[in-house]
Amino acid sequence: MFEGNGRHIVICEVATRDGFQIERTFVPTRVKIALIDELSRTGLQKIEATSFTSPKAIPNLSDAEDVFRGVVRVPGVTYAALVPNLKGAERAVAVKVDEINLVMSVSETHNLANLRMTREQSCAQLAETIQAVQAGGVSINASLSTCFGCPMEGPVPEGEVWRLSERLLAAGASGISICDTTGMAHPAQVAAMVEGFGRRFPAATLTLHLHNTRGMGLANVLAALQAGADRFDASLGGLGGCPYAPGATGNVCTEDLVHMLDAMGYTTGVNLELLLACARSLPGIVGHEVPGQVGKAGRVSDLHPEPAWLSEVRAKAQQRG
Ligand code: COA
Ligand code: ZN
Repeated sequence: MFEGNGRHIVICEVATRDGFQIERTFVPTRVKIALIDELSRTGLQKIEATSFTSPKAIPNLSDAEDVFRGVVRVPGVTYAALVPNLKGAERAVAVKVDEINLVMSVSETHNLANLRMTREQSCAQLAETIQAVQAGGVSINASLSTCFGCPMEGPVPEGEVWRLSERLLAAGASGISICDTTGMAHPAQVAAMVEGFGRRFPAATLTLHLHNTRGMGLANVLAALQAGADRFDASLGGLGGCPYAPGATGNVCTEDLVHMLDAMGYTTGVNLELLLACARSLPGIVGHEVPGQVGKAGRVSDLHPEPAWLSEVRAKAQQRG
């Protein structure tokens, strides 16, 4: 029941946005560009390269224009950016971002902390933003943060996820990303959410944006796959976290996810070897170890030489018959 049987899964790489936004040190623009260029050659279909946010709110991504101007666009790769308001969308359109990923939170408290607006103000601002930019042909997705719980408010009613999805889709977004901002979801919840979304909004594109804060990240992916989801955000090395969500840690790790999906017979189009080379360059970029597992352990097919003393043990065991 778990076999992928060649089913195609779309992965959106978010390390240079969700990952770098929370790093203690600013990653230099040329390093960001070089990493995005390397990621572009791995077969990833989508890269959320940066965000067009207030430089006061997210100083680490204040170079968003320069990043977009610097990357070499590889045909077939969608270059997306996170956008919280009209000003951000105008900046994104000016540098020809392929997809705008609007963002607001399902929790009123997190929306106020992250975006300094009420949810109602965000909804109105995002609808106005879609109106202003959609004629230009940019693709528009909307991310809903804290869908499975808010680290300050606690449980988030599922009905609010449906209400806000409906508002944003009606305003003109073509897809919704259901985000588990601080890894509060468990697999049964994720499966129910995916099924519920598909029933209510069959024409909309659904992406799951999962964080591994409590070790349930890949289990949640598996539950989502079983429920029919086929699009996931993931972050190289498992970096990530919202600076305005207390206790936030990294996303589901891209190389761990691709490794699991490959092993199960799903296709992602991603060359794991090239992706692992990117992942192994990360500690040098961010100056610390990263959470990803496969980068350290190697693939299941990366075997270790047997120890030299084993030949003696083998010979003795064979002598004993
Ligand atoms: N890009 C650049 N500058 C922006 C901007 C944007 N998207 N939006 C607002 N600003 C600037 C304004 O021009 C203004 O500048 P000024 O002081 O020089 O006049 C200043 O920021 C304040 O504008 P205001 O509209 O009052 O914004 P705010 O201070 O209330 O902040 C957001 C609201 C949404 C812009 C800000 O909270 C934000 O960027 N949040 C993003 C958080 C995030 O990315 N979290 C992680 C991902 S979930
Ligand atoms: Zn996130």
